Amino acid sequence: MYRTKTCGELRLANVGESVTLSGWVQRTRKMGGMTFADLRDRYGITQLVFDEQTDAALCERANKMGREWVIQVVGEVSERQSKNQNLPTGDIEIIVRQLVVLNEAQTPPFTIEDQSDGGDDLRMKYRYLDLRRSCVRKNLELRHKFAFEVRRYLDQQGFMEIETPVLVNSTPEGARDFVVPSRMNPGQFYALPQSPQTLKQLLMVAGMDRYFQIVKCFRDEDLRADRQPEFTQIDCEMSFVEQEDILQMFEGMSRHLFKTILGIDIPTLPRMTWADAMKYYGSDKPDTRFGMKFVELMDVLKGTGEFSVFNEAEYIGGILCEGQATYTRKQLDQLTDFVRRPQIGAKGLVYARVGEDGSVKSSVDKFYQPEVLDRLKQAMQAKPGDLILIISGPDTLKARKQLCELRLEMGTRMGLRPKDKFSCLWVIDFPMYEWSDEEQRLMAMHHPFTSPKPEDIPLLDTDPASVRANAYDMVINGVEVGGGSIRIHDAKLQQKIFEILGFTPEQAQQKFGFLMNAFKYGAPPHGGLAYGLDRFVSLFAQLDSIRDCIAFPKNNSGRDVMLDAPGIIDQSQLDELHLQVALPKE
Ligand code: AMO
Repeated sequence: MYRTKTCGELRLANVGESVTLSGWVQRTRKMGGMTFADLRDRYGITQLVFDEQTDAALCERANKMGREWVIQVVGEVSERQSKNQNLPTGDIEIIVRQLVVLNEAQTPPFTIEDQSDGGDDLRMKYRYLDLRRSCVRKNLELRHKFAFEVRRYLDQQGFMEIETPVLVNSTPEGARDFVVPSRMNPGQFYALPQSPQTLKQLLMVAGMDRYFQIVKCFRDEDLRADRQPEFTQIDCEMSFVEQEDILQMFEGMSRHLFKTILGIDIPTLPRMTWADAMKYYGSDKPDTRFGMKFVELMDVLKGTGEFSVFNEAEYIGGILCEGQATYTRKQLDQLTDFVRRPQIGAKGLVYARVGEDGSVKSSVDKFYQPEVLDRLKQAMQAKPGDLILIISGPDTLKARKQLCELRLEMGTRMGLRPKDKFSCLWVIDFPMYEWSDEEQRLMAMHHPFTSPKPEDIPLLDTDPASVRANAYDMVINGVEVGGGSIRIHDAKLQQKIFEILGFTPEQAQQKFGFLMNAFKYGAPPHGGLAYGLDRFVSLFAQLDSIRDCIAFPKNNSGRDVMLDAPGIIDQSQLDELHLQVALPKE
């Protein structure tokens, strides 16, 4: 038997017991005639003691052990003289009488402790060593527990987990596909699913009623802290439901997860229309941990003074930063530089400070009469000591996005976005379509299977851009953790939506014929949603990037630096696949 106990479980109550432990040597230290070693496994760390006086040969062998050697020891649990409050096992140590070296180890390229000296790249290259660190392992433990509780909840609600294929055809979720050449069908390719969207709808036609799957999805898109090329969805679909049924069901799931994993009771989720989210937060995923809602100032500032920037603006909006009138000129210049960065793209920033006497001092004073600035103060409901920040622009959507970035930056600076505070909401009533400058046509905002709101269906013919969808997102702390919709289950309506999206009937038949044909055989009304598991878990674990809760993530160039993937394949493999590779010239 390699072990009778783990390195995390021994306590004072075990003193006197003879135990066998196995694990990795975290570090050793020699003090006089004694050698101490920290033995680590998944469950914790236990101190080992080798006493030269009792067994000199054993102690000599222990002194030779290097970091990360794999050993087995037999010894007696003893109470420690100097206890370590930081370790659950810190009251005891093992007086070792037998040592077996199971495997020697090369010195690892970085220290395997919570505070490691290894940089990001090095730790990713040796991710299997990085995963030995308890702070990283804890994230995977949380992820396991999370997925387990998801399954428990959905199983209790009658959902069935069904696997769908990974080698499929292109699914229209808006990102690029990863493709796989087919050897047996020369010149043809599978696509890896961006989500199992159409398959889960077919499962509803098949009468499965309540489906879920914790499933890998693949999207070839630019990577960010909350995006990976392969990520995991909790994908769900239900039959004979309306939007309300789905919101209730999955609000219930979130409540279950917060309670069982974090011990937090979350309040009923507020619902905000997409239009309000854009109006008050400039984002379809507002961070509602703090207020600082946008106030539109067109009435107050456009045409009421000589400031041409405002006079020409299509949008002027402000945020109120309470108690921040102490912001110095330098800090305000920094903020101006922040909004001017190319990623944000604002032309500038206007500010107004409210003095202790209630007077308003702004960067555009010379253009406005004091009454106008007073109205600004009233519109913003500003009090003495407050700071007003204003952004304007010729394009409402863009100006709101810039103000959104500024709001988030101020929220961070003012400490209003603590990671251990959670604010969840539903964003509902998304538009069906959004205009794509690139494609010069309307594109589905969610996906082409989303149903319009029944009352908006007549607008499909006259003003499709104003049609709202039965679509919803769950947002937590400014992160879109999940989203879904009620689907179209009527083949004719589906056909019409494809038309508006610019597909000819032939193209629609070729791409989605399998789905539209299925709908002819009795499709139930259905709808669903999918959560991003990685995003949800990283919020729970308070991580900055979803990479930290993925065992083997890709880096920002989509590479797995440990496996060195993607890689080149042999010519013979290329030949078999009927592929020719033409590399771009350096
Ligand atoms: P959607 O495209 O909104 O919907 O995706 C659902 C959720 O998946 C997560 N997500 C990602 N997580 C990490 N990396 C990525 N690259 C990534 N892309 C998306 C997000 C998102 O909310 N089939 C529909 C769902 C439905 O309608 O039922 C879909 O895939 O958290």
